[in-house]
Amino acid sequence: MIRTVMRGTGSALPKRLVTNEDLARTVDTSDEWIVERTGIRQRYFAGEGETTATLAIEAAHKALAAAGIDGKTIDLIILGTATPDQTFPATATAVQHAIGANGCIAFDVAAVCSGFLYGLGIADSMLRTGMAKRALVLGAETFSRLLDWEDRTTCVLFGDGAGAMVLEAVECDVTDPVAAPGIIATRLHADGAHNPLLFCSGGVSTTGTAGHVQMMGREVFRHAVVNLAEVLEEVLGVAGITAEDLDWVVPHQANQRILDATAKKLGLPPEKVVVTVASHANTSAASVPLAFDTAVRDGRIKPGDLVMLEALGAGFTWGACLIRV
Ligand code: ACO
Repeated sequence: MIRTVMRGTGSALPKRLVTNEDLARTVDTSDEWIVERTGIRQRYFAGEGETTATLAIEAAHKALAAAGIDGKTIDLIILGTATPDQTFPATATAVQHAIGANGCIAFDVAAVCSGFLYGLGIADSMLRTGMAKRALVLGAETFSRLLDWEDRTTCVLFGDGAGAMVLEAVECDVTDPVAAPGIIATRLHADGAHNPLLFCSGGVSTTGTAGHVQMMGREVFRHAVVNLAEVLEEVLGVAGITAEDLDWVVPHQANQRILDATAKKLGLPPEKVVVTVASHANTSAASVPLAFDTAVRDGRIKPGDLVMLEALGAGFTWGACLIRV
């Protein structure tokens, strides 16, 4: 059988660090309110010359270096983003050109905060069916460029960044799918009925503008906890394991309270949950690979660990992926 194995990760952040106190100078908010309601203490915002593509390219180079793999040998690139450099072409093609993988499959996925999970699921399917051998999956965003600075209920929540993961198709005999390295199971969902709860107020074919983030925070919160707990149970069920078997959960970093509530619902000890929301805020599609790479580089996630990745975003879209590192 063919198995999708993780080879390396990388991430990138813009240069400009913005603390809650910095924001409170221009927005009617406070460090105390933001920390209490979200757990966020700071975020990074892209400056001049920094874009979704430049951040994605930096993350890609780092992931390739960690994997010890030449970019030219990558034959599939999938980039999750809601903030592409241009309406078209896909930002994935900018990454492709930068790493010298010209000619391979490259496209963007629009699943907002779940974009990386969707990319991972698609890459795993394509690798296992033999359409590609080496994939680069990324989540990269510059959400700061979609924020309404007059709307304190949304502009304090987001940050910019990118994360990347190199995956490889490996031919192997697997007797115990949970014990062997690689992606064990992925489940993805969407429900467009909830579109009005979290959306961008512009679009190419409606206003001709990018628009601004609009969110019904309380409703999103409620759905996030329920849908994430459900999809986590679903993937655990497919793998035939329980939450206790996990070494780590790497969740979408939207809000500390969503992380706590989801972990509680699953009976997961907080020390098994990778949390970076305090320092990166919500970086949408970048948040899961950015958190994953952070935990790999600081020594928390090690080879052999059993890790669950999960995300929910606008659409709604949501999903989870179980991987043995
Ligand atoms: N600073 C100070 N006060 C604020 C701010 C702010 N930045 N934003 C709102 N307030 C005020 C409101 O005006 C309101 O004041 P009022 O009572 O005088 O009217 C009060 O705080 C409470 O506002 P709520 O919106 O009801 O606050 P809530 O407790 O629901 O917290 C939050 C808001 C943090 C957005 C919460 O709903 C939440 O965590 N939602 C989850 C959504 C999320 O994280 N989304 C991220 C994107 S989606 C995703 O990635 C999954």
